[in-house]
Amino acid sequence: MRKAIAWVLAAAMTLSLAACGSSSSSTAASTAGGTSDTAQTTTVANKDKPLIWFNRQPSNSTTGELDMAALSFNENTYYVGFDANQGAELQGQMVKEYIEAHIDTIDRNGDGVIGYVLAIGDIGHNDSIARTRGVRSALGTAVDEANGIVSDPVGVNTDGSATAVKDGTIEVNGVTYTVRELASQEMKNSAGATWDAGTAGNAITTWAASLGDQIDIVVSNNDGMGMAMFNAWSRANEVPTFGYDANADAVAAIAEGYGGTISQHADVQAYLTLRLIRNALDGVDINTGIATEDDAGNVLSDDVYYYDEASRSYYALNVAVTAENYEDYLDSTVPYAPVSNQLDAAAHPEKSVWLDIYNAADNFLSATYQPLLQKYDDLMNLKVDYIGGDGQNESNITNRLGNPSQYDAFAINMVKTDNATSYTALLGQ
Ligand code: BGC
Repeated sequence: MRKAIAWVLAAAMTLSLAACGSSSSSTAASTAGGTSDTAQTTTVANKDKPLIWFNRQPSNSTTGELDMAALSFNENTYYVGFDANQGAELQGQMVKEYIEAHIDTIDRNGDGVIGYVLAIGDIGHNDSIARTRGVRSALGTAVDEANGIVSDPVGVNTDGSATAVKDGTIEVNGVTYTVRELASQEMKNSAGATWDAGTAGNAITTWAASLGDQIDIVVSNNDGMGMAMFNAWSRANEVPTFGYDANADAVAAIAEGYGGTISQHADVQAYLTLRLIRNALDGVDINTGIATEDDAGNVLSDDVYYYDEASRSYYALNVAVTAENYEDYLDSTVPYAPVSNQLDAAAHPEKSVWLDIYNAADNFLSATYQPLLQKYDDLMNLKVDYIGGDGQNESNITNRLGNPSQYDAFAINMVKTDNATSYTALLGQ
């Protein structure tokens, strides 16, 4: 049976090449679905080509509800991200453990209140919401509501009267300390870009001017903002600063007092993003080189990712990176060793992929994720066109998807998680 399909495929491809001289390929994708009638399907409709969402999961940015229409756009549609809740829990835990281990020195003004400030990335982004919740719940400052832990920013909360958080307590060596979220805000610039490092650098300067040595800890929902705050204020004032993403500059800064960060295993995510495309275009089992070893020896173990069928999502697992282990994470752009073997170009011929990064200025995506993608695209014989957005307007990106027919597959990173239809509408035409 397999052989027969392979033969039909080969024949169909030869026919299609001969018929139109087109390099457009993907008979494999349609045949993989089980149809053997490839006679007229020399080109695959854009709506049937592999489509991978990554980094921003199609979902309602207010309620978090998944956009299942987008996630199941066609049979080769998946999301690749990481487990936001597991990572957020680790982030909160990392900060808490740091406080416990440094209790003798942490309270800078000795008032018995351990004060932290929090840089929120994008109040409508599920990762950002999860991280705010993870930090608040580990530090005891979380307020529960019907929809879960409140993730709204507090602005400035010098006296602990804000309603979005409460004062928490932490007990170390029999002594109870109060923990207070002194300030938090979304880091959005005037043009609308979120997770904005420049805004975070300005915010810490403003907060430090009014809160001074009440600030004992700086927490950020990503390293881009975290490093901006570290460079603007906390390094010089020796205030531990925590981020997320394990960007190379942040990991290196751990040697200089940056408190820690979380690796979301971008090396595994970037692999999955392109690997699912490769498998779909090859017409092989979607988990080839993922759950099962491929012909080059690539395979992932289940301690670094899992697949959730209901959300058609592959999630990488997170790891805390602190003073204890940071030396293993100094280069964030090395392919993950178990999946770094070159695929054979004859068995996996070149295909072309359209891929966008929602904001070319996003530190994590540009400094960590994209360099990884660029290494994996060579290993998988994929020719990827990288489109960098401005982080504000979906149209800045969709305008550059003018001719989807020229690509075999698509990988999409949206500006806003609600906007999947701006893309699927173009593919559905
Ligand atoms: C990353 C952030 C990044 C954001 C962009 C998150 O998963 O942790 O650093 O800015 O994605 O969408």
